Amino acid sequence: MAHTVYCPTKLIFSDDAASDLVRELAALGPGPLLVVTDAGILSTGILDRLLPALAAGGRPVKVFSDVPGNPGVTTVTAALAQARAARVGVLVAVGGGSAIDVAKAVGVLLTHAGVTWEDLQAGRAALKRPGVPLIAIPTTAGTGSEVSHVAVIGATDGFKKGVLHTALFPAVAIVDGGLALSLPPKLTAATGMDAFVHAIEATLGRRANPSMDLLALGALRAIVRALPAAVADGANLAARRAMAQAAAWAGMAMDQAGLGLCHALCGPLSAHHDVHHGLGNAVLLPAVLAFNTGAISPERWPALRHALRLPADASPDALPDWSHSFISAIGLPTTLRGLGLDGSTFGAIAAEATRMAMIGNNVRPAGEAECLAVLQAAL
Ligand SMILES: [Fe+2]
Repeated sequence: MAHTVYCPTKLIFSDDAASDLVRELAALGPGPLLVVTDAGILSTGILDRLLPALAAGGRPVKVFSDVPGNPGVTTVTAALAQARAARVGVLVAVGGGSAIDVAKAVGVLLTHAGVTWEDLQAGRAALKRPGVPLIAIPTTAGTGSEVSHVAVIGATDGFKKGVLHTALFPAVAIVDGGLALSLPPKLTAATGMDAFVHAIEATLGRRANPSMDLLALGALRAIVRALPAAVADGANLAARRAMAQAAAWAGMAMDQAGLGLCHALCGPLSAHHDVHHGLGNAVLLPAVLAFNTGAISPERWPALRHALRLPADASPDALPDWSHSFISAIGLPTTLRGLGLDGSTFGAIAAEATRMAMIGNNVRPAGEAECLAVLQAAL
């Protein structure tokens, strides 16, 4: 099938993020540098380890560390004000998808005076030129934001609205699994499941294509081995590196081939209940797969079955139970009730899910009634 692959991000699979950072910063234009990160990264000491590299070129270095788990436009506004005041020439995002997405937003707003993030979310303005160059350094193996051209920021009404534009691709991504060594097991599991869902939605989706299948199936193959190992022993560097690599592959696959019903439901779920993005996707996945299995074509199933290491005689009907067991084995809850939900918001979540762009890429068409049924099944 005809398809285009476009990922202009320089993707560095690194054994030493600090030394790669020194070289990449030296290659970028002049100007002060703003680090966009969160308080959790400050407390882990990861930023302290990178600070000598950030300052090595003699640039003034400022730090914005107020990125919350589910950032909204107020976070973008605050980070942008600091970036403008410092007249930054380079952005460095250190953290998970939230920090990277806020940095992407700041990068393009810096070069579009008079445009706000709300303008872009509402389609009232368009991006016309590249942003300030961004080096993305993920500290979790999950979101894939380091290789994507989308930034997902909560709008003023709480709706998690993604803005898509090629100007949002980071200039450089430095992927070093060693930065995730201190990530606790629960966050390792939740972020890893985000990567898993990116890969499986990309390979099952309507825009799936042979090029992205290489990445998506390779990511799934790696994740089913490495994620349980990284959760069981956070200091397992080989598992951390395998997960970091797989998350970037899954991120490229998601970015180029699209997502599906799980992410369409997870956006409003996170907005209503402040649920961690990866955790929400993990809890929803078995019910989404149960909805989708009948639509998986017989031609596509063997490659997916093989990537997941399912027995030769397994059919797509095995997917929901298999995913339930996998998620349970890495210590995550498997019901929405386990996240504290009682179903009272399901109507609103189902209605909002139908507004999410990725729902149109799901392998089986889903309207509001189907979304509601999947949520009830996941309760
Ligand atoms: Fe995701």
